[in-house]
Amino acid sequence: MDEMIESSLKEQLVLNPPEGFSRSANISDPEIYRRSEEDPEKFWGELSKNIDWFEEWDQILDWKPPHSKWFLNGKLNASYNCLDRHLQNKKDKLAIIWEGEDGAEKTYTYGELYDATCRFSNVLKKMGVEKGDIVTIYLPMIPEAVIAMLACARIGAPHSVVFAGFSHEALAQRVTDAKSEYVITCDGYHHKGKLQTQKEKTDKGLEKVSGVKEVLVVQHANNEIDMKPGRDVWLHYLLHGVSNECPAEPMDSEDTLFLMYTSGTTGKPKGVVHSTGGYLVSAYTTANWVFDLKDDDIYWCTADVGWITGHSYITYGPLLNGATILIYEGSPDYPGKARFWSLIEKYKVTIFYTAPTAIRMFMKWGDALPQKHDLSSLRLLGSVGEPINPRAWLWYYEQIGGKRCPVVDTWWQTETGMIMITSLPGITPMKPGSASKAFPGIKAVVLDEAGNEVPVGKGGYLAIKNPWPSMIRTVHGNEERFHKTYWSKWGGDIYMSGDGARVDEDGYIWVLGRLDDVIKVAGHRLGTMEIESSLVSHPAVTEAAVEGKADEIKGEVIVAYVILEAYVEPSDKLRDELKAHVADEIGHIARPADIIFAEDLPKTRSGKIMRRILKAITNGEDVGDVTTLQNPDIVEELKRKVGGE
Ligand code: WTA
Repeated sequence: MDEMIESSLKEQLVLNPPEGFSRSANISDPEIYRRSEEDPEKFWGELSKNIDWFEEWDQILDWKPPHSKWFLNGKLNASYNCLDRHLQNKKDKLAIIWEGEDGAEKTYTYGELYDATCRFSNVLKKMGVEKGDIVTIYLPMIPEAVIAMLACARIGAPHSVVFAGFSHEALAQRVTDAKSEYVITCDGYHHKGKLQTQKEKTDKGLEKVSGVKEVLVVQHANNEIDMKPGRDVWLHYLLHGVSNECPAEPMDSEDTLFLMYTSGTTGKPKGVVHSTGGYLVSAYTTANWVFDLKDDDIYWCTADVGWITGHSYITYGPLLNGATILIYEGSPDYPGKARFWSLIEKYKVTIFYTAPTAIRMFMKWGDALPQKHDLSSLRLLGSVGEPINPRAWLWYYEQIGGKRCPVVDTWWQTETGMIMITSLPGITPMKPGSASKAFPGIKAVVLDEAGNEVPVGKGGYLAIKNPWPSMIRTVHGNEERFHKTYWSKWGGDIYMSGDGARVDEDGYIWVLGRLDDVIKVAGHRLGTMEIESSLVSHPAVTEAAVEGKADEIKGEVIVAYVILEAYVEPSDKLRDELKAHVADEIGHIARPADIIFAEDLPKTRSGKIMRRILKAITNGEDVGDVTTLQNPDIVEELKRKVGGE
């Protein structure tokens, strides 16, 4: 309650961008909004000139909802744009500064990154990878993850990066769906000081997959691993004698650059398909304008390369801009809770982009930790992944940014490819807790069921009314799901984001969170159905329902309601076993915080689980009308159980 009162007071706060910042910002004239609105196509057409094309496009947009094509017939290469074009002026500039969890350091200049990428591409070719083959990358936060992405892009092989923390099951599912014949992994890596046996996990996953021809293994942690003869090859063996020149394949603007699997409202993750030309124009522009990238910046995005944020704002956006990026392998609390602050101090990080969950955790750890470090190099802060509450926003602004740094709260999704709602740091007055306004060229609106814009202050569906260059092209192998999920609500040409939002009297957008069965746990996107199907795959479980429960640090945590087989006795041991089962099947991020053994679930007369009621029970809220339930008594019983009785 206090937080709510505080929130509504703080919502009225407006902070202007620091004056000095505005003066030298990449974008300092609000006129940009008017220009983009006048003619969004022309606007993107002009921005496409910031990308190097082997052959010019001849049409900006072909929009046959829900299918868009951007920069038609243009030919280009993503890897060329991130590397080759910087060689003349930035060959000796640092592209990547990497630090391992154990403190090891490694750097790559643009020249070195170019060499490493070309050699990696030649290895892929040696393995038989051809243009159009989908390559799965299952690597942790090591430079080779970025190099592998760029190497795939260089030869025209779309990559599908699977978050290294995902389980063997999750890997198998994604490799199968993508029909990927090549997988890149590593021996192991360290997380919170513990060895993670990545190769073992890969092997276990691939047992369930047919059709994988070769597995390329990066040597990183030097742990002992099994190599399967005829399938597994060490990267360092194949690198012997390989040339450091590899021509960048001219790709059509609409050729797929990558797939990114993400959770939706069914039990199966979907492969979001991104194209090349449009995606690069979007990534370049947003990285440049939102993060205000300058030549001497040290830019650090703490997301994992396995998520879309790692694609657009670790790899592509910053490298297209010729920026220096910091990549840190490990966890923020290893070996101590000030690791991030010491990294910022050590490398003189100027731009820092992280998630609200992390910010709330740092807040809990106390002001003394950041205060002991020199954070004066910072000049811009960013937030992504979930709504940031005003209190955390202000803490970030004051304690980390010393009130000198604008904070950009960036709203976007795997499907949008680029930041869609944000302030522009040199011009937009900031309201803590609001992601501000649509990026130039984007028409973001809040609609009611019927597709009408809702009045000021009223909640509704966050939607996008016009096409944009990096928009999702389709769901891999599932056109129907593409149509149904995003385009079916209002007549076919309006994109439904799945989020709720409201607009205030100044036109600022306040994102309220997901309206569908997707939950965000510590910023990680998970589908409740995925977790439910994992639970029912356990022999003791007959039925399961999963809900998100509000959590002070993680935003939401998972509460699972489980109905057991008649012969199974509920116990704490079983509870732990089920938690471990989900972690094993999906990954640790999906581990339920709580499991409630239930006799039944609130159901309608037709037997459908009433999610609204379950959600209210989970969060201790008023459940409202229960008369439509076939079993209204279950509500009180579940309430007691959630309350810990
Ligand atoms: C949520 C992450 C509020 C939102 C880039 C969206 C946010 C989902 C914000 C997409 C923000 C992301 N404020 N909510 N600034 N940024 N979200 O695909 O619910 O992992 O739909 O992409 O994250 O998650 P995804």
